[in-house]
Amino acid sequence: QNYKNAKRFYLIEIQMPRLPRRRQMMMVLCGAATLLLLLTALVHTDTQRYYSPLRIADKLATQREQIAEVAAADADTFEPGSDGVCSGRRWPRGVRPLYIITPTYPRAEQIPELTRTGQTLLHVDALVWIVVEDVNKATKAVLHYLKSSGLCYVYLKARMPVKYQKLKTKPRGVANRNAGLTWIRKHAKRGGVIYFADDDNTYDRRIFEQIRGTKKVSMFPVGLVTKLGVSSPVVRDGKVTDFYDGWISNRKFAVDMAGFAVSVEKFLNSPKAAMPYIAGREETKFLESLNISNIDIEPLANNCQEILVWHTRTFKNAPARPSPKEINITDSNIQSLLKQLWNGKR
Ligand code: UGA
Ligand code: MN
Repeated sequence: QNYKNAKRFYLIEIQMPRLPRRRQMMMVLCGAATLLLLLTALVHTDTQRYYSPLRIADKLATQREQIAEVAAADADTFEPGSDGVCSGRRWPRGVRPLYIITPTYPRAEQIPELTRTGQTLLHVDALVWIVVEDVNKATKAVLHYLKSSGLCYVYLKARMPVKYQKLKTKPRGVANRNAGLTWIRKHAKRGGVIYFADDDNTYDRRIFEQIRGTKKVSMFPVGLVTKLGVSSPVVRDGKVTDFYDGWISNRKFAVDMAGFAVSVEKFLNSPKAAMPYIAGREETKFLESLNISNIDIEPLANNCQEILVWHTRTFKNAPARPSPKEINITDSNIQSLLKQLWNGKR
């Protein structure tokens, strides 16, 4: 045993250093070169290519968040101050603020709809986007989207009262719009313009600049409404004399929700102005509560000759089904995707 140990000691500790000097140098050099090669390889490896999909997803999410943060910093202020406006480069002095009330509710299309609407609104200066969700508990994805949107926004919750939830024809978005109006009554200290922008419409950004001058109530055509294809005030000599709409039914103002804007000043001067829970009569009843008549209506969109808003609507998708067993998704990007899908729960 002793002999064996002595031999090993001799081989490792004594014989090695006794190699010829040239060979020793070569060994050191070879070692150094190998180390250098390894180091270079490590530095130049495209780490993303060799990471697991889960880590790629994580990394992309972080990158997205960083981009959103930069956008956020760029937009300056995200939530209106006590006077109901934001500040920063999107808020030039002296420009009247627009208060855009958007009712929304959880469904498969909710985030796509808000993305489309929100990105249209990004083209508009001095705008407060009041997003009101028909829920008891906020949808996380909505909050996340708003936070990263770069818009000056207000998020509110307003669930449709239970007795209306049971109706066959529901007064959709009414609780939401009234909550938005209450916020405006309390906060819109510098005046401005109110517009009800449902999340299922398409907006030409020019309409936002046109409504900015609204003195009392302005009106304009909305495309893709009823079988007539358009809903619009009837304008003669620059004055509104009547309404062209597929559903007149005794309505004093037969207009679509997206077809009018109201000045904050006019709204504040009508303390009782609100939207009733009467399906199909929300628009006319709200306008009637403002005590206006046809002479007060300011026709926009080139005397209502152009369509700048459409009730596009979106194909209704079923909630996402649970993932099938035969596809292996463990430790993959699919987990992040599944979290973003609507599963039918409110
Ligand atoms: C339109 C009007 O916006 C409704 O106020 C009105 O009740 C309806 O016409 C009518 O005249 O009967 P519509 O296009 O039919 O509504 O309905 P949606 O687009 O589904 O809903 C209007 C808005 O309310 C949307 O922004 C939607 O996101 C929201 N909504 C809808 C809710 O907040 N909760 C709901 O349960 C359904
Ligand atoms: Mn709609």
